[in-house]
Amino acid sequence: MKITFLGHACLLIELQNKILIVDPFISGNPKNNKIEVNGLKADHILITHAHQDHTLDVEAIAKQTGASLISNYEIITHYEAKGIQGHPMNHGGSYDFDFGTLKYVNAIHSSSFEDGTYGGQPGGFILSAEGKSIYIAGDTALTYDMKLFGEEFDLNLAILPVGDNFTMGYTDALKASQFLNCNRVMGYHYDTFGYIEIDHDAATNYFIEHGVTLELLKIGEAITL
Ligand code: NI
Ligand code: MN
Repeated sequence: MKITFLGHACLLIELQNKILIVDPFISGNPKNNKIEVNGLKADHILITHAHQDHTLDVEAIAKQTGASLISNYEIITHYEAKGIQGHPMNHGGSYDFDFGTLKYVNAIHSSSFEDGTYGGQPGGFILSAEGKSIYIAGDTALTYDMKLFGEEFDLNLAILPVGDNFTMGYTDALKASQFLNCNRVMGYHYDTFGYIEIDHDAATNYFIEHGVTLELLKIGEAITL
């Protein structure tokens, strides 16, 4: 699988037979001058929680691609009322899709739409496909539950927020990687806004000192597993 960083917390995941986009926030990302919503392809859009910096371009991408959504029950219901179909999940549940298996796991955060509509409880995804498993944390604090994810899954990559302030910062993300028993981390949810700017060298060196790899990709760069 190929995972391309589209900026902030947005990912493009290319599998052999399907394309997934996670948490589309492209048109409103002040740090993005590379990726355009127009022309993106997707079979499914995964949404971790309702906040605007994870959902801004959901409707545009769903309309241009016909992609169906995968998220929590409340978010799916919200978009179904707008005529966009999806698959509802909730914490702790797994489902075998035609591209692989997703488990929707809990996150410690909040989840309301821009207009205040309830967006259910926030989550993350563990994707197992093509013999690999990756954890997409969504916006979350460090939580001991990550130990359970590490026990259940043999993770090849953990995609963790590192920007601090609204989520865990990079020191907690290192602790998360230890709970997850995963020594390869892709950082996301940093630098987009002033509140979440980080020192890249300090973060990557902190991880190196603890024997874990932290990758801070530029927008458009990819990891292939
Ligand atoms: Ni959020
Ligand atoms: Mn966010």
